[in-house]
Amino acid sequence: MNAAPLPIVVLISGRGSNLQAIIDAAQVDLPVVIRAVISNRPDALGLERGRRARIPVQVVDHKNFENRMGFDEALRAVIDGFNPGLVVLAGFMRILSPCFVSHYRGRLINIHPSLLPDFPGLNTHQRALEAGVSEHGASVHFVVDTVDEGPVIVQARVPVLTDDTEASLAERVLKQEHHIYPQAIRWFAEGRVELEGNVAMLDGKPALGRNAPKI
Ligand code: GRF
Repeated sequence: MNAAPLPIVVLISGRGSNLQAIIDAAQVDLPVVIRAVISNRPDALGLERGRRARIPVQVVDHKNFENRMGFDEALRAVIDGFNPGLVVLAGFMRILSPCFVSHYRGRLINIHPSLLPDFPGLNTHQRALEAGVSEHGASVHFVVDTVDEGPVIVQARVPVLTDDTEASLAERVLKQEHHIYPQAIRWFAEGRVELEGNVAMLDGKPALGRNAPKI
């Protein structure tokens, strides 16, 4: 593949370990150029990861806006200034308006720490433990209107062990996140993944179920 690298923008709110996995992969052979790291929180630890990798970082602080629409419009203007082919949500903790989401339809992806459609929302690891499931994991999905839902591109599954705590389970899942997020971005960059209607397609076939990496 000798095509030009795909320009991407990564949105974060916190520690940025998924951002780091993407930065690391891009420094090896992931065919993307990270044009910017954008955070809604000025104190996000991940901003430092961006700076260290000499990626432009920018803060659009949601606290400076009276409402969601105002924030979303400002965010959209900043993102579009970098002209990305793909917008990557990596621990970005703001709900985005339908207007924002439809502007980026088919080029906005998220990673969520559960096997969607199970456990959308917060505290997924604790809820998985409480539900007594034997398997848990993470999903990369295209973002559509509903929070943490949307056509799944790839999932990683991990076993839930009898002595698991929320922390041990979270750690096992996060390790897998760091594999599947760069993987999904690679597929997108190579033109192998796209959103068709409401289905994530991989190599022309519905993605879910075919490629869930097993550990
Ligand atoms: C990850 O668990 C991700 O799935 C969720 O938020 C967390 C972000 O972690 N959306 P990090 O900031 O990438 O370390």
